[in-house]
Amino acid sequence: MSIENIDSILHEERLFQPSAEFVKSASINSLENLKDLHEQAEQDYEGFWAKLGHDEISWQTPFSNVLDDSRAPHYQWFSDGKTNVSYNCLDRHLESRDNNNAIIFEGENGDIKTLTYHELYSQVCCFANAMKARGIGKGDRVVIYMPMTPEAVVAMQACARIGAIHSVVFGGFSAESLKDRIEDAGAKMLITADGGHRGGKIIELKQAADKALAGGCASIETVIVFKRTGHDVGFNPDKDIWWHDAIKDMDNNCEPEWVEAEHPLFLLYTSGSTGKPKGIQHSTAGYLLGAILTMKWVFDIKDDDIYWCTADVGWITGHTYVAYGPLAVGSTVLIYEGAPTIPDCGRFWDICERHKVSIFYTAPTAIRALMKQGDEFPAKYDLSSIRLLGTVGEPINPEAWIWYHKIIGGERCPIVDTWWQTETGAHMIAPIPGAVATKPGSCTLPLPGIMADVVDEAGNSITEANKGGFLVIKKPWPFMLRTIWGDDERYINTYWPMFDGKYYLAGDSARRDSDGYFWIMGRIDDVLNVSGHRLGTMEIESALVAHPRVAEAAVVGRPDEIKGEAIFAYVVLKGDRPEDGIDKKLTKELRTWVSEQIGPIAKPDDIRYADNLPKTRSGKIMRRLLRTIAQGHEITQDTSTLENESILQQLQGKR
Ligand code: WTA
Repeated sequence: MSIENIDSILHEERLFQPSAEFVKSASINSLENLKDLHEQAEQDYEGFWAKLGHDEISWQTPFSNVLDDSRAPHYQWFSDGKTNVSYNCLDRHLESRDNNNAIIFEGENGDIKTLTYHELYSQVCCFANAMKARGIGKGDRVVIYMPMTPEAVVAMQACARIGAIHSVVFGGFSAESLKDRIEDAGAKMLITADGGHRGGKIIELKQAADKALAGGCASIETVIVFKRTGHDVGFNPDKDIWWHDAIKDMDNNCEPEWVEAEHPLFLLYTSGSTGKPKGIQHSTAGYLLGAILTMKWVFDIKDDDIYWCTADVGWITGHTYVAYGPLAVGSTVLIYEGAPTIPDCGRFWDICERHKVSIFYTAPTAIRALMKQGDEFPAKYDLSSIRLLGTVGEPINPEAWIWYHKIIGGERCPIVDTWWQTETGAHMIAPIPGAVATKPGSCTLPLPGIMADVVDEAGNSITEANKGGFLVIKKPWPFMLRTIWGDDERYINTYWPMFDGKYYLAGDSARRDSDGYFWIMGRIDDVLNVSGHRLGTMEIESALVAHPRVAEAAVVGRPDEIKGEAIFAYVVLKGDRPEDGIDKKLTKELRTWVSEQIGPIAKPDDIRYADNLPKTRSGKIMRRLLRTIAQGHEITQDTSTLENESILQQLQGKR
């Protein structure tokens, strides 16, 4: 791995101090307080985490071991303690906030439903009992393929309650992707729905689930189907059971299964630089601690907040900041099922006004898309309930940041730009809103106890301002991933390949400015960030070459105003290249094909046909060259090693 031309082009000087109004009620309300926390972590790293672990988590058996590094880089935290995540999210709030709303749900079609802590507790227990009745217990894997409804959270919490390991698959993934994930995890149960509402259409979840099961998934014994849309779907009486039938006569109390701190809470598949997605495995207690602390530190959550994170539960953000974090701290989380454009581009702001949302957390891609629609939409709504804004998933461009600040935040709300990953479990680098001044486009400073740094290839800290390098974390932290499911080797090779295996390699490049603020510059591996979602170029390439007419494919990203990155595919066909490089019918077919293989988010935006692909003498595809071409830039690379220079013309689309 090498860092080529990571030079910063962005220079943003504006500084936004926390407002006096915000600081007044903030729990960490000055740089001194924050520095104090940082110092505690530096002086006694284990002591720092031990105290937080004891204070924030309700334990059935308290821990005495803090960090066990004897099997590094397989680290263990709080390993002799026992707890249960669902207990921490539900039971422990019953006394003080039984009747407070845990969830406010709004369907795309306008249904509204609220669940108090007591109601959510009953539903989770009832569903946990239904799962147990179908033979699910501690350590069994359960795949959840659901629309964004409260039942998705109920299913996740129910798994946590009985010690089953869930693996949520985003509803936008195809049958093929679902099948791969079920098989990799060896799941015994699938929880799905007839469908979901999104973008004014029905997402055919059950249909995809049936297709996945028809093609394999022998480990699945039961499929529980939640009725959401009520449209006709296939039903296989051997394995399928409706959710409402499964919970009939089930007790609405269910003792939590007390599990070891290190017991896996969930797997979540994410893209890496090879074709096969990785099942990122998270722990119970360490993960929970990250969710709780960052809700308090970064979102400064208060009892009366109405908190809305727009992420789907199919992504890590929907795990930590919808299904677990907000409930673990006893707050109210809003869940919206659908698209931001239904019935029009004011939907998000309409929801904020009607439900008095006070904390709003979304992705830069959504902000850019809504910004493009103009200020009329937000102007129609009263957004004065919002007190804090957040972003996640990709760098936010200063223009979108300023729009968010002015138009949505009324220049009064701090913006927390949160850098983290599926692997890190929770926020890692983010402003503490009552203490840290923000700069548009920077995720600012690492959280207390997070030893983030920017280093060169030898692992030395880069002290020169604005010089790019590898983003690393120099000490293990409680909410880090534990391994890749079934592939310890890949875990070690992916995250600990450099610096003697001592530093966690995030896979991002970053720089620090003269104030020590972090600026994320992008991925150093072959991972694209499309609308804040990670996609491996190899994954898309494998999907393309699986098409009977495709011989070879190379996929790169090209900058896109709304999506961050767009997908650009170069394709070599078996047989002749289409005349003048144009075959609209095939292009459409290949786009649909990729969508079926992976999901609509992976559809290439551009496909260009060539007689062959540019390769180095050792046979490696010259991706940098392809990237330059996709961006429409002048080629400055050495192309003398190309066998056939005329393909350059083809790759550039010059027929
Ligand atoms: C990128 C999403 C810049 C980064 C939580 C990271 C960001 C990848 C930010 C992880 C941010 C996430 N600024 N880039 N605030 N947040 N990223 O696993 O490249 O879906 O490595 O987790 O998204 O994506 P993932």
